[in-house]
Amino acid sequence: MGSPEVTNTAKALGRVEERSARAWTQEQMNALFAGGFPTFITGDAEVTKHIGRVRELFKPFDIILTDESDQPAATAWGVPISWSRDVDELPSSFAGVLHRSLELHDGSGVADTFVIGGAVVHPDRKGSGVAEELVRALCDIAAEHGLEKVVAPLRPTRKHLYPLLDIVEYAAWLRDDGLPRDPWLRLHVRVGGNVIGLAPHAQTMTGTVAQWEEWTGLKLPATGDYIIPSGLAPLHVEKTDDLGTYVEPNIWVRHRRPATQHGSFASCRTPAGRRGRGFALHGTDATQDPTSARECRHHPRGGRGSKPTHGVDGVVVLVGTPERRPPH
Ligand SMILES: CC(C)(COP(=O)(O)OP(=O)(O)OC[C@H]1O[C@@H](n2cnc3c(N)ncnc32)[C@H](O)[C@@H]1OP(=O)(O)O)[C@@H](O)C(=O)NCCC(=O)NCCS
Repeated sequence: MGSPEVTNTAKALGRVEERSARAWTQEQMNALFAGGFPTFITGDAEVTKHIGRVRELFKPFDIILTDESDQPAATAWGVPISWSRDVDELPSSFAGVLHRSLELHDGSGVADTFVIGGAVVHPDRKGSGVAEELVRALCDIAAEHGLEKVVAPLRPTRKHLYPLLDIVEYAAWLRDDGLPRDPWLRLHVRVGGNVIGLAPHAQTMTGTVAQWEEWTGLKLPATGDYIIPSGLAPLHVEKTDDLGTYVEPNIWVRHRRPATQHGSFASCRTPAGRRGRGFALHGTDATQDPTSARECRHHPRGGRGSKPTHGVDGVVVLVGTPERRPPH
């Protein structure tokens, strides 16, 4: 795969470039990530095992958007994998995504799918629309590398306000305008994504009780469940084992097939699906040939009628037709 130095011109800001195309100072990176992730995000041992190699190997898929002063405004990255279009065959965890990308790299398979791995907007730039530019830029890079499918296991950014709510309900929760309640999910849907499944066990963070006390700033005096700051779900502590375990969910989104022109999406494909699985494209299309190009509309494949079809260990496939759909 090639290594584009400058892949595109961002509409609202400076430009999109490969993160490794030049050296950024630690101060610039610290400022960029200042409003990023909670400290306990580092507690997923499986991710820790793979992440260094992944970031080293897939530099063309690791981008920075700069602002008009040539300062980092946002960054995002992802990995190429091979995926059949069957939602059941998506990795059930974030570590699984990384593992699959490495397996493909080390073997002889051909990548056909881009998985968005993470995104961060500089605190001063949040709410400015740069996140949308970021997602579009990632879709463009996928297209430039011949990766026809783009998916993302999203870490919903407002789920921490509802840590007890099941991810099935949370993902299906819509605003009055029919768009998802969660802002990050909403952005993806607005850009052309559809919810295709859930990963209830996307990341498992473990640590000693002392580590969790440090990560959360809380005292954890006894065995039990705790609501923790920025936690998408409760933390479970076992004092006798000196172990805290926290499992957080993701929401799988599939983007419409990106065009190679920045900011435009020429067509889309029907979702991965077998007969009776996945979501209808406006009522009648749930059983279409998964490879046929068709008009795509902005709507979450969730809705109150949605039900998970199988257990919580793997990817939960949603079945149902959205009750309401947003304007497009
Ligand atoms: C997730 C993230 C990249 C989105 O960037 P952003 O600049 O906030 O995105 P946008 O401004 O386009 O916001 C999307 C929506 O969220 C809303 N929003 C932004 N900040 C919000 C807040 N604090 N509270 C409520 N809504 C908020 C925006 O108004 C917008 O709503 P709209 O769809 O009605 O227009 C950014 O918030 C971030 O860096 N978060 C920390 C890292 C992270 O969680 N990344 C995602 C998982 S990998």
